[in-house]
Amino acid sequence: MKPFLSLLFVLLLPFAACARDVRPTDMPPGHAVASAHALATEAGMDVLRDGGNAFDAAIAVSAVLSVVEPISSGIGGGGFFLLHDAATGKDVFIDARETSPASATPDRYLTDNGEFDRDRAENGPWAAGIPGLPAAFVHLADRYGSMPLSRTLAPAIRIAREGFPVYGRIERGYRARAAVMERYPGTREVFLANGVPPKEGDLLRQPDLARTLELLAEKGYDGFYRGEVADKLIAGVNAEGGQWNATELASYEVKEREPIRFRYRDWDIVTAPPPSSGGIALAQMLQILSGWNLAELDEVQRTHLVVESMRRAFRDRTFYLGDPDFVKVPQRLLTSPDYAAGLRATINPAKATPSDLLSGAPTPLESDETTHFSIIDAQGNRVAGTQTVNLLFGSGLIPPGTGVLLNNEMDDFALKPGTPNAFGVMGFEANAPEPGKRMLSSMTPTFMVSPQRVAVLGTPGGSRIITMVLLGILGYDAGLDAQAVTALPRYHHQWMPDVIGAESDTFTPEVAEGLRALGHQLNLPGDTAAGGRGSSHVWGNFQTVSWDRIDGTLEAGSDPRNPVGRAMVEPAKAAAR
Ligand code: DON
Repeated sequence: MKPFLSLLFVLLLPFAACARDVRPTDMPPGHAVASAHALATEAGMDVLRDGGNAFDAAIAVSAVLSVVEPISSGIGGGGFFLLHDAATGKDVFIDARETSPASATPDRYLTDNGEFDRDRAENGPWAAGIPGLPAAFVHLADRYGSMPLSRTLAPAIRIAREGFPVYGRIERGYRARAAVMERYPGTREVFLANGVPPKEGDLLRQPDLARTLELLAEKGYDGFYRGEVADKLIAGVNAEGGQWNATELASYEVKEREPIRFRYRDWDIVTAPPPSSGGIALAQMLQILSGWNLAELDEVQRTHLVVESMRRAFRDRTFYLGDPDFVKVPQRLLTSPDYAAGLRATINPAKATPSDLLSGAPTPLESDETTHFSIIDAQGNRVAGTQTVNLLFGSGLIPPGTGVLLNNEMDDFALKPGTPNAFGVMGFEANAPEPGKRMLSSMTPTFMVSPQRVAVLGTPGGSRIITMVLLGILGYDAGLDAQAVTALPRYHHQWMPDVIGAESDTFTPEVAEGLRALGHQLNLPGDTAAGGRGSSHVWGNFQTVSWDRIDGTLEAGSDPRNPVGRAMVEPAKAAAR
């Protein structure tokens, strides 16, 4: 960790704790929105100014992200929305994860000689699950919003029709995925509309996507899952050799689930339950770590213990976690403080525990896919939304006439037991595909609530989402402000491969040496011999907002690694306008 941040971590901790006895304010002084694209943040703020609530704003932000970040998420994909309804005091988790088509049996993902068929798992029709995001918009609007979809989807529809300026990540991402995307006529129609691939500064127009969003706004659920759009989705998938049917599309439903809750020091943590693996992993890691006062430890010791907690949580993820509607997830056991205490007892403070060395595969490259946004409104409602099409531009397949870029979320299933997926994580029966089942996710939209402060946080990053959220929680706990939390240097361990990965500059040479001396293997960006990622590699796209209930201030932080992100706070006066 950069030395000044380590110092902040230690110096600020006592202040976070001592404000506890002061009476909190009841309402935030305005609205705060942070997302990975300025157009999405502005659309959300505009809805709030017009009198919408955080749930209306979430629809607007999510839909605009779906239009302006086709690399990351979209209505051809899915997502999770963690809500806090200030009027009832309730937290609810909206699960709009994709589901497995009935045809997607494990044998479909094997080549003739029984090898895992990575192309099928990641590209084209077999890679895609049944999309969930459109159903989430309808559900949010019906149950929680105060405005019609015609208002909340309007900015996304306009931007899809009129176009938005292509930025660097889209140009680079397209170049990386062009060979797959150009296989499909519907995709060529959108991305090669000008005859050439999208270039930074060009306008990317998506008229079919605008029309699909309009139908969703007009007809609700039936505008996407039945009728014209559904027919075109099925035709487009099946024309490429897939096998979708109308029944599975028409029977997709959003699930409301009870969030995972646990305590870490002064904080109530409210976070993502299965089919996310994030909340259970966070509960395990933080409850393990609560056995030490991290602020008192030097950086090598602290990092060692955090890594050991990551290693143990990811081991359990591999074996136990899947869609709770299909498999019995031992959630009570895995999230119990006693279980965490047992795991803590297995940690040697002076030595790394080797992961069971079955696989030495290096953690694969991960880039700009998936997106997160965080919102607090002036009534105290909150939304943490993380949404995705999985890998860069999802499956690359746009069924003609829909504008809907389909996800490649099927790779998040354990398609071949014990074979690592694109994020190097593997699984077994609990996460095997079955008709209608949801694939395990790492997306971890999270709230932190203490007597002093409320924070909404999350990020993309595949399996590293969970550990980035963990580091974000530790950062808030150490008293950092929202922007500083997004800037924290990042490191990660996922049990297998048994190696600590990190961004450039996360560790000083001394800290890296100290960790090696404890028996850890490190795979740092400069270590090309060890399969490193090149010194410019950065992880995540953290978006967070926080409200200090004692001094009545709102903050928003947008990851400095992403130049097009935007964090906005509007004070009560402007908010009440
Ligand atoms: O749900 C998941 O865990 C993955 N599909 C998320 C993908 C992701 O974050 C890609 N980002 N870099």
